[in-house]
Amino acid sequence: MTTLQATSPADAGDAIQCTPDGRLRHLLSLRSLPRELLFDILDRAERFLADTSEPAVRSTTLAGRTIANLFFEPSTRTRASFELAAKRLSADVLNLDVSTSSRIKGESILDTMYTLQAMQCDVFVVRDAAAGVPRMIAHAVRDGVAILNAGEASVSHPTQGLLDLLTIRRARPDLESLKVCIVGDIAHSRVARSAAEALTIAGISELRLVAPKALQPEASAFPGATLHSDLASGVAEADVVMALRIQRERIDDAGDIPDPSDYARRFGLSAANLAPASPNVLVMHPGPMNRGIEIDDATADSARSLITEQVRNGVAVRMALLEMVTETHLGLRR
Ligand code: CP
Repeated sequence: MTTLQATSPADAGDAIQCTPDGRLRHLLSLRSLPRELLFDILDRAERFLADTSEPAVRSTTLAGRTIANLFFEPSTRTRASFELAAKRLSADVLNLDVSTSSRIKGESILDTMYTLQAMQCDVFVVRDAAAGVPRMIAHAVRDGVAILNAGEASVSHPTQGLLDLLTIRRARPDLESLKVCIVGDIAHSRVARSAAEALTIAGISELRLVAPKALQPEASAFPGATLHSDLASGVAEADVVMALRIQRERIDDAGDIPDPSDYARRFGLSAANLAPASPNVLVMHPGPMNRGIEIDDATADSARSLITEQVRNGVAVRMALLEMVTETHLGLRR
């Protein structure tokens, strides 16, 4: 087991995401988000959660606003939940079809954004395989336009980090007593980075990372976490265990990665592999899942699984964020 140390300060480039009086203007990263604002987002999201037997919560707070979804990498959950979130707040929604957009003809992402900005889009939801794209766009948009990072290379996925923290808090409000373990391809995971940032700001007791040697991260990304190369020590007495898939799309040479059956035996979440965890351990996965590799069916579908809750809470978190940045930008225009 190794304890990871920070080697670089938090990115000052994220200062643009809040106004001088602390309101959310863009969501680029969780790393420098004030604790109070983080919990404000979660509290606002709670208001958008109805009982599952009830219809989804709706409001008209974004009537007249336009949300543009720009997903330059595949997505099911994030894109669908941003679309539903915007529609449930009565916004107009544009889902740019990247495969038929003029980016294919060589148009830059900034020119794409300027084009849609001229059509009076108010919020851009952006996913891209290149690091720094959400921040670059946030610096380029005119006043009154917000950027929400929906997945940035292997760097960050802040809305996922927020929905993961909300899901844990709803199941275990005693956040400061929790031992949380993230298992899998930590090296390439933006989900792990943003979850770690959210959990650290929330003040959990312990964060453990478990990965085979070939998928272990650089130390600076996870200050204060402990790094384990065997699952049993990572999950010992853990209250929450989150599995990640292997991000093969970000790996050039997969030669050192265990093959799927070896990986499942050594790192997959199953009743046997979770035996050292707390008897009440909760299990999470951001999706998409590769069942039978990082998690088996029985565990994914068990009473201890929060995976469906994560998806449900994702819509509420994205409704909260859309409402908050819109309020901020309306305030700036006055
Ligand atoms: N968790 C997540 O980001 O899933 P999608 O890639 O389907 O959006």
